[in-house]
Amino acid sequence: MAYLDSRPGTPSGLPNTMGLSGWRGLFWARGCRPKQSLLCACDYELRVWPNIRILFTARELCPEPSSPTQIKRSSFAPGLPRADYAAAASLVPRHETLDELFEVPKSIPICDMRYSELIPCLDRNLTYQLKLKLNLALMKHYERHCPPPERRFNCLIPPPIGYKIPIRWPAGRDESFPVGGPIFMIGADKYITAIAEMLKIPGYKLNNGGNIRNVLDVGCGVASFGAYLLPLNIIAMSLAPNDVHENQIQFALERGIPSTLGVLGTKRLPYPSRSFELAHCSRCRIDWVQRDGILLLELDRLLRPGGYFVYSSPEAYAHDAANRRIWYALYDLLRRMCWRVVSRRDQTVIWAKPLSNSCYLERNQGTNPPLCSSDDDPDAIWNVLMKACVTPYSAKMHREKGSGLEPWPQRLTAAPPRLEEVGVSPDEFQKDTVSFYG
Ligand SMILES: C[S@@+](CC[C@H](N)C(=O)[O-])C[C@H]1O[C@@H](n2cnc3c(N)ncnc32)[C@H](O)[C@@H]1O
Repeated sequence: MAYLDSRPGTPSGLPNTMGLSGWRGLFWARGCRPKQSLLCACDYELRVWPNIRILFTARELCPEPSSPTQIKRSSFAPGLPRADYAAAASLVPRHETLDELFEVPKSIPICDMRYSELIPCLDRNLTYQLKLKLNLALMKHYERHCPPPERRFNCLIPPPIGYKIPIRWPAGRDESFPVGGPIFMIGADKYITAIAEMLKIPGYKLNNGGNIRNVLDVGCGVASFGAYLLPLNIIAMSLAPNDVHENQIQFALERGIPSTLGVLGTKRLPYPSRSFELAHCSRCRIDWVQRDGILLLELDRLLRPGGYFVYSSPEAYAHDAANRRIWYALYDLLRRMCWRVVSRRDQTVIWAKPLSNSCYLERNQGTNPPLCSSDDDPDAIWNVLMKACVTPYSAKMHREKGSGLEPWPQRLTAAPPRLEEVGVSPDEFQKDTVSFYG
């Protein structure tokens, strides 16, 4: 039987190999590799609930190897093919109360331990087994490839043997890590202050009175940058693929830092256009000049008018020939994209996206990257390929700096100007707000 429990402790039926506290203890468990000793749940959301663990008996944690097809079907069938949903629903008894509704059915089978690291749709084994020919140079192997219905799992993913609840916040933020780790030599907090100084923000607080709130950190590693933005009331979407290292995003989530598996490869990131006030890349090793700048053009789509791109990478400061060449190519590309250098200091360069179309229109005819065609919807994101073009501002678009949004936290309840673009007036927004919140 498997059930959810919110008490700290040792998985029942398992010897307590974890008398140690902290991360080191995790890695000593029963000869597990570090990666195996972290929680793997059905999906990533589960991993951010530090107090929730799934308890198992020893027998359930170590089932006989079985193929997924041998696994018993349960009455709760998230992995069933769509056609089976109706049949599955008829197996689920009608529930009268919420408690009954959320009672975990006792018949959910536990996946074999070899699937304890499984991430649905990002499963490398599946990629090999299905012989998907993915272009590695375009990072397609780090993008989502979901299994066909007959290969989906219908079982609970067990935590690795000896899994221990994560270090509590804020200790997790300051812990050093066996992979990647904070590379901000001066400390992430000082690095963030230095960025604010470069932007001449009063008081050197990067949130700029709430005007910088949404940040995208691409190639985030273990998301230290995002961790140190939190006290400033800045929320970073920290993004990295599950690459050849240990799973960095798993580490970040275990540290208590919001982050997500994602890659700048061939598909648009799942955010609408003009979502972020600032994008950040420190040593992210992304080849920004490839494919006519398609990856930078994706950042251009995502940045709000006047949004910043903070770039701290050897290409920006190293003087060897290879890095210089990349730097000049990058600098030239961004000039053609009409981004202007706002500040440059030590290892960091900051650009800003333009506030209007005027620079685009002044470019020589035939300048690359071209403007996107008027039928391109910059807000179409799900499974949409990136495009190597600049999204111009339209007449109805709010192009004031920061999309004309109120600073945080007022923006939480104020009508976003963007609503008018889709025909909703501030009045209607206020009326809706009143009917939602009474
Ligand atoms: C050296 S680490 C730097 C981590 C972090 N920014 C820091 O400064 O500590 C490089 C990061 O870039 C990520 N990365 C490389 N190519 C990427 C791409 N195309 N899209 C997103 N992340 C990428 C890697 O997975 C890794 O997290």
